[in-house]
Amino acid sequence: MSELIAPPGGPAAMPATPPAEVLHLPIWPSGQSSQRLEGAQIAVTWFSDHATYQQALTEAVLAAAHDSRFHDPKHLVMPSGCGRKVRNVPEWNVPAANLVHARALMFARQSLSRQQVFADDTWASIYGKGDYCMPHSHVRADVSIVYMLEPGDPDPGDTFAGKLYFADPRIGWTCPVERGRVVRPFIPDMAPGTMVLFAGEYLHGVHAYRGTQPRITMSWNLTLQQQPGNPREWAFRIAGEG
Ligand SMILES: [Fe+2]
Repeated sequence: MSELIAPPGGPAAMPATPPAEVLHLPIWPSGQSSQRLEGAQIAVTWFSDHATYQQALTEAVLAAAHDSRFHDPKHLVMPSGCGRKVRNVPEWNVPAANLVHARALMFARQSLSRQQVFADDTWASIYGKGDYCMPHSHVRADVSIVYMLEPGDPDPGDTFAGKLYFADPRIGWTCPVERGRVVRPFIPDMAPGTMVLFAGEYLHGVHAYRGTQPRITMSWNLTLQQQPGNPREWAFRIAGEG
């Protein structure tokens, strides 16, 4: 695969445009840094001001979940269904959602050293007790971003419960013994306010969540070129094939 994420200290370290504000918070706070996983197309950043908008954003996700305009009619709600999906984040028309959307785009622009990226698909995922996500990649996305809004309840008996993991032979960290042979997943530390950016083709999933409070993440599929058609068409087609 081609190298999308620029090396640390390169042009990506500089904002592509002067940071703007939403909710009186900067889209890209002064001094905001990110870390890249060595040998992989994965970068992580954490927004220290997340508590300022966390409640408003959680309320926005839960409100949008009850709005049929943002439902995914083809998404199957079952424990393996990667949570309940709430789509089209920018169309929720909520300042807190607009802020994290702008931050996701800025994170991608900086990480990729691109003046422009396109939001091909955006959504929130609400996990309930027992929900999990089997390994998959993101169709069409050059890069994807996951934002941890609400991690939910910890499981004292299983530290990996509800955790996002990457298990892909193209990620060197997962193959410490033999190149191309995955023997350990990469599990980023995702405290609330954390954004993880990764190559859309990387195989990833979410371990089963065991808590009672909702576990909520937000996601973006981003492309370098604007893509025609419905980003979910492939899912509709597969669902049609039964
Ligand atoms: Fe995913």
